[in-house]
Amino acid sequence: MRNKKLLLGLALAGIIILIVATGCSLGGEKEAEVQGKPVSAYFMDTCSGCHGATRQGSVGPALLPQRLTQPDEYYFNVIQNGKPGTVMPPWGSVVTDEEINTLIAFVRSEPESGALEWTMDDIKGSLEEITPENELPSAPTHSGNMDNLMLVTEREVQSIAVIDGDTHQLLTHIPASYRAHGYTFDPTNERWAYNMGRDGWVFKIDLYSLQPVRKVRVGLDSRGIAMSDNGQYLIVGNYIPATAVILDADTLEPLKVLSTRAENPEGEMVDSRVAIVSDVSPDLVGPYFIIALKEAGQMWRIDWSKPDFPVDVVENVGHILHDGFLSPDNTRFYVASQTDNWMSVLDVADWKLVEQIKTGDTPHPGSGAAWEWEGVTYGATVHAAEGKATVWDMATNEIVGSVDTAGAGLFIRASEHSPYVWADAVFAEEPHVITVFEKAPPFDAVGEIKDGIRTLHPEFTADGAFVYISDWDGNMVRVYDAETLELVTEIDSVTTPTGIFNTDRRHETLGH
Ligand code: HEC
Repeated sequence: MRNKKLLLGLALAGIIILIVATGCSLGGEKEAEVQGKPVSAYFMDTCSGCHGATRQGSVGPALLPQRLTQPDEYYFNVIQNGKPGTVMPPWGSVVTDEEINTLIAFVRSEPESGALEWTMDDIKGSLEEITPENELPSAPTHSGNMDNLMLVTEREVQSIAVIDGDTHQLLTHIPASYRAHGYTFDPTNERWAYNMGRDGWVFKIDLYSLQPVRKVRVGLDSRGIAMSDNGQYLIVGNYIPATAVILDADTLEPLKVLSTRAENPEGEMVDSRVAIVSDVSPDLVGPYFIIALKEAGQMWRIDWSKPDFPVDVVENVGHILHDGFLSPDNTRFYVASQTDNWMSVLDVADWKLVEQIKTGDTPHPGSGAAWEWEGVTYGATVHAAEGKATVWDMATNEIVGSVDTAGAGLFIRASEHSPYVWADAVFAEEPHVITVFEKAPPFDAVGEIKDGIRTLHPEFTADGAFVYISDWDGNMVRVYDAETLELVTEIDSVTTPTGIFNTDRRHETLGH
């Protein structure tokens, strides 16, 4: 009898233990391990020094699912082999393939709450003076033409090469941050340039002494920067967090953080990344910043002349808004709606949607191209998923031309001083063909440039005489005669060059 009770008791205890044990393993799945440690602890010990304790980025980029848009193989390769030319070390001899996959799953998992935030206080706390401005020279210390400097992003090495567009001499390299991406130049003072890295650091750069003087981190993943015509304000659009930040251009102090959580065309509230940011000339239309909310499909016009920077919203502009640019008279803004395959046209003064121009697959205008020919103003875009440039008449918004390029591309440029338009095809099977076509209808191609390995981002010198082209994989910038298309010179000692921005853009009216 007694034994029976004991047995029953033991059996019951066994069942309870079983239930508890099963419950445990069902509830909180045991954290995968790397080198004998839970992956989060391994990351904290080994990776967080460069990627941040909450994966928000520091020397290395933020490792958050929201910005890890490449396939697993890409990240596997980076973790295994490191990123040559950067400080990202190879881990292949330290961790197994399976552990690399565990690390990828970890950086793709949702971070702890708060990790995606970057508040006004965070921005203020990050502001740093690099060189006191009272120690700067009062005139340029280099021989370059201030109105014709070419600033070239050296993508993988966190720096900017500066080349004199008159002589094609490399002047120096300016330290910057992760994928120095956006540039803007002070329309009121030739000495100031601003650069924004994809990791959210904004630099104020002195173009007299070619060095950064201040920096501030405005977000964890940032996309675009623009400056008001009066030289007073900067605006930066972030991907993470969903904000746009207005800064005092002189001190880089943050003045306002606008949340870009907004309703998409389907009526859902979404944290919307900010794609293009641009500025409108007060002399032409008004003292405005324009920003595109990528997922929300909204365009915002911000009046920088009024206290507290009031916002006017146009909803339902499209899906996945991306780059955009102004008509030269600033009356129209053209923004790519990438999954709709159209360029939306906004009337800037009335702030309303006036047209949707059907383009090819995934329009991607970059900084945009606009030109005048015999009294007609044309605008054009290339496409990130199709090998053609689409040209429209800016007065009627009708498509008037389609030019075949070598493949999908990202950038197209024109200059008022030059007869041709230049378009890249950086996603083509042979990603090194630049198509050059006439400004006059029917926009016949006049030639193709096929030098290099992977070439992109044509940029004119100020006088329109030369075109600079980056060869990303060839570590070279090539200079072409803009009329004969002949190769003039090659500039090496640049590492992974991508975007090229001429200081003459401070005078441009397509938005700075
Ligand atoms: C010494 C600094 C440093 C350490 C330590 C480090 N990283 Fe990195 N990591 C970087 C930098 C810098 C980059 C950006 C390289 C570039 O420019 O593409 C990077 C890039 C990456 C990327 C690619 C991100 C992207 O968007 O392209 C991944 C993934 C990554 N690191 C994972 C790790 C992991 C996992 C560890 C720890 C095992 C680690 N890193 C440790 C500096 C570091």
